[in-house]
Amino acid sequence: MPTKIGGIELKNPIIVASGILGLSQSIFNRLHQMGAGAIVSKSISLFPREGYRNPTIVSIKDNSYINAVGLANPGLESFTSEISDNNAPLIVSIVGSTVQDFTEIVNKLKNLNILGFELNLSCPHVDKMGMEIGDDPKAVYDIVKNIKNNSSKPLFVKVGIGNSSIIKTAKVAEEAGANCITAINTIRAMKIDIETGFPILENKIGGLSGASIKPIGVRCVYELKKNIGIPIIGCGGILSHEDAVEYLMAGASAVQIGSILGFKGLNSFNEILKGLDKYLKIKRYSNIEDLVGIAHRY
Ligand SMILES: Cc1cc2nc3c(=O)[nH]c(=O)nc-3n(C[C@H](O)[C@H](O)[C@H](O)COP(=O)(O)O)c2cc1C
Repeated sequence: MPTKIGGIELKNPIIVASGILGLSQSIFNRLHQMGAGAIVSKSISLFPREGYRNPTIVSIKDNSYINAVGLANPGLESFTSEISDNNAPLIVSIVGSTVQDFTEIVNKLKNLNILGFELNLSCPHVDKMGMEIGDDPKAVYDIVKNIKNNSSKPLFVKVGIGNSSIIKTAKVAEEAGANCITAINTIRAMKIDIETGFPILENKIGGLSGASIKPIGVRCVYELKKNIGIPIIGCGGILSHEDAVEYLMAGASAVQIGSILGFKGLNSFNEILKGLDKYLKIKRYSNIEDLVGIAHRY
C-alpha cells in the first residue's frame, strides 16, 4: 500500500506516533523491519529534559491512557549521535519554546538520513512548549516559516485540542509552508484515586490518548479537510483497521498509531495493515487514496 504524503513516499500509510516507544535506534530499526510505514521519534528538545516524576502514565477503561511524561528526552546533542547511522524511515519530532530553539535543532539534524520533521505544537501538559506555542498564531507562523527557511525536508505540523481553534492553527501552519498536518495529540485529562483523593499522576493533569479520543480526532480531521489544502495525517485512538478507515474517510491520507502499541503490542500495525488490505479488496477499492475524504461527499 505505497502512500505519498507531504513529499514523503512510504511503503504503507501506517506510521508509529511520537512518544510511545522512546528514542533508541534499535527500536526504530525493529519497527522498520516489522513493516511500519514510518516512525515518528519522541519529541526532541534543544537541551535534555528530565520530565515529571512517576507516576507519569495511568491506563484507564476502554483502551485509553492518561500520561504526563513531561517531554522527557536526552536533548539534541545525544539524540543526534544516536541516529547518526539511521536507515529507518524516521521522522524526527521536535519541540521548543522559541524560533532560535528550532533553528538550532533543525540545523543540527537536517543533514542526517531522516525523512523529515514533525513539529509538536500540541503537547497539552508542559508549560511554554507544545500547546502553549500552538495556541499563539504568531509564534506558529514564525516557527514554521523559520524551519522551512532552514531546511528543505518535509515538515509535518502536529496540532491538537487547545485554547485556540485547531483549524486556525493548521491554516497558519499551512500559510507558513507546512507540508502536512498531523491531528491530534492527547487531550488534557486527569484521574483521581477515590480511596485517598490523590490525583494519580505526579503532574496531576495529563493527556488522554487511546480509544476515548477517537471520535474527537475523526471530527478534527473532517473539519481540517474542509478548511486546508495540505494533506492530513489522522491520529488518536486507532485500535483497528476500521478505525483507520474512519480517519481516511474523514480526510486523512495516512494515520499514526500510538497507544495501541502499549495495549496490543508492536505487531499491531501489521494487523491493521492486513485488515485494511482485506477491506479494500472486499469493498473493491483499488487503493487507499480511493477512501480519502469519502465522508465529504455526503
Ligand atoms: C506516553 C505517551 C507519550 C507521548 N509523547 C509524545 C511526544 O513526545 N510528542 C508528541 O507529539 N506526541 C506524544 N504523544 C501523543 C501521541 O503521539 C498521539 O498523538 C496520541 O497518543 C494519540 O494517539 P493514540 O490514541 O493512538 O495514542 C504521546 C502519547 C503517549 C501515550
